[in-house]
Amino acid sequence: PATGALAGQHVVITAGPTREAIDPVRYLSNHSSGKMGFALACAARDQGARVTLISGPVALATPEGVTRVDVVSAVEMLEAVNASLAECDIFIGCAAVADYRLAEVAEHKLKKVSGSPGLTLSLVENPDIIAAVTHRQSPPFTVGFAAETRELARHAHDKLVRKRLDLIVANDVAAPGLGFGADDNAAVLYYLDPDQPDNPATSHTLSPRAKQDLARAIIDYMLP
Ligand code: C5P
Repeated sequence: PATGALAGQHVVITAGPTREAIDPVRYLSNHSSGKMGFALACAARDQGARVTLISGPVALATPEGVTRVDVVSAVEMLEAVNASLAECDIFIGCAAVADYRLAEVAEHKLKKVSGSPGLTLSLVENPDIIAAVTHRQSPPFTVGFAAETRELARHAHDKLVRKRLDLIVANDVAAPGLGFGADDNAAVLYYLDPDQPDNPATSHTLSPRAKQDLARAIIDYMLP
């Protein structure tokens, strides 16, 4: 049997970007590399947890001892999350889920029409995966991420309340050399006093370091 502070716990983590198809050859996506989510999977595993890693398309090897589920779109990611939630103790939403998908995916490759005024794509909102997790009956301890370029504390507080998160990891993505695609990251952790949710969130700053070290510090912070 596993030993460590998370022995016997099932940790479910989403990682990477999602891809929203436009037609059979094109998609909308973002620059998420998946490195932070994969590093969290390793850190949770090292604490003895059983880990399910639900990942969008990334160029990363599956960490040893971790169960990986590959998905492409946000809707697929939600389905995979729902399928993994039985007996989930901790959910970490690290994926950069596309906010919108195409209202209709074209069956055939879209053709360029030269001289036309341009092309308009019609988008509809994707489901909020982490909010779907926290709005279930008896939700797991849920950790969210927030990539912000300004007003970290205000946006973090807003997301804690709106998405009913237990902890949020806020990244300043405007900081040079950190965040998307980089090997290093810094973060500020925020959480609310459940008895006084209107009070400012308590914060804990983690200085810039390798994503593996940051992941370990985040997991350590959640331990009893
Ligand atoms: O609202 P925003 O996208 O900034 O929230 C970020 C947090 O919400 C992350 O934890 C991300 O994984 C999660 N999220 C999600 N489903 C979405 C959008 C965001 O799970 N559709």
